[in-house]
Amino acid sequence: MSDWFIYRGTGGPAPDRIRDLPEPPPWRRFDAPVVPYEVPPLDSSTSRRLGARSVPLPVQDDGTLELINAALYLRRPLLVTGPPGAGKSTLAHSIAYELGLGRVLEWPIVSRSELRDGLYTYDAIGRLQDAQLDRTVPGADAAPADRSGDIGRYLRLGPLGTALVAAERPRVLLIDELDKSDIDLPNDLLNVLEEGRFAIPELERISDRPGQETVEVLTDDGRRVPVTHGQVRCHAFPFVVMTSNREREFPAPLLRRCVPLDLEAPRDQRLAALVQAHFGAGAYEDNHDIVEQFTEAEADGALRPTDQLLNAIFLAQHAARGAAGRRGELAQLLMRPLDRGPR
Ligand SMILES: Nc1ncnc2c1ncn2[C@@H]1O[C@H](COP(=O)(O)OP(=O)(O)O)[C@@H](O)[C@H]1O
Ligand SMILES: [Mg+2]
Repeated sequence: MSDWFIYRGTGGPAPDRIRDLPEPPPWRRFDAPVVPYEVPPLDSSTSRRLGARSVPLPVQDDGTLELINAALYLRRPLLVTGPPGAGKSTLAHSIAYELGLGRVLEWPIVSRSELRDGLYTYDAIGRLQDAQLDRTVPGADAAPADRSGDIGRYLRLGPLGTALVAAERPRVLLIDELDKSDIDLPNDLLNVLEEGRFAIPELERISDRPGQETVEVLTDDGRRVPVTHGQVRCHAFPFVVMTSNREREFPAPLLRRCVPLDLEAPRDQRLAALVQAHFGAGAYEDNHDIVEQFTEAEADGALRPTDQLLNAIFLAQHAARGAAGRRGELAQLLMRPLDRGPR
């Protein structure tokens, strides 16, 4: 283990270590003033993925750790490729957990995803409806009479937009399965990640009106943050994890600006660590028969995601109470190669 590592993948939380992260290189410095905003803590989507984490075992090898830390030092997105179940999406959670960076902002990509979805949404129709109500029922709402006048109520930052809010500590942003996107998204994304900023034209347009220079908008976490002159600019560059199942290649300019990490499916010590994280110490040894079935089956070159092993162990633990003999068969049923279809 090298001591320049900020993220060590040991499993235990070390929220102070991020303070040891040196200044970014000059070409990745973002200088927006920090805005007052409280980052919400990790939520259940992290604990679901990571398990109880009672056993501190290294879940990443040194080569992987070097690349993850390189991305942290360079303030560059990490582009993680690897087979399904390799632990790509979980990596973002693991970093947020260990470094105490708060709730992971998740942006699952589908073919229809556009840059705009990740940045912010503006509910113009909702605002129009409220404006009509404000007009037709004067004083009916005892609360602020002119709800629709507060444009910030109708603007909500997406996961990418929220990651770029000038917080003191970097947020973790997971852009999951980027290879599912349409052809333009990777390039559009590139510009925003290079600049660390974006504009909200709806706010820019009105920022010269009295009282509208700074407007509070909603974040992806449901908090309110001030946006001045319609510009969202980052302070600490977020830790961005982009994952890909290699369904498509990415454009060269994107690859050039990311730190690429190829994650192998977990085996041996890493697999043991995962099983113990989810089922407690000793679980790896106790379920050795199933683990062996899983790894042996792997020898035929077929693709089996780790999730299947976790499901099989879970079920086998319960089935063992009834008919112990069915453990093996049950596990077999669940652990099927992905690329062969049902038998
Ligand atoms: N570091 C880890 N600690 C605990 N469990 C993990 C870890 N990495 C992966 N897993 C488990 O392995 C499974 C597959 O991980 P996932 O991140 O969904 O893979 P991918 O995104 O590569 O398809 C999940 O069930 C997850 O809970
Ligand atoms: Mg995934």
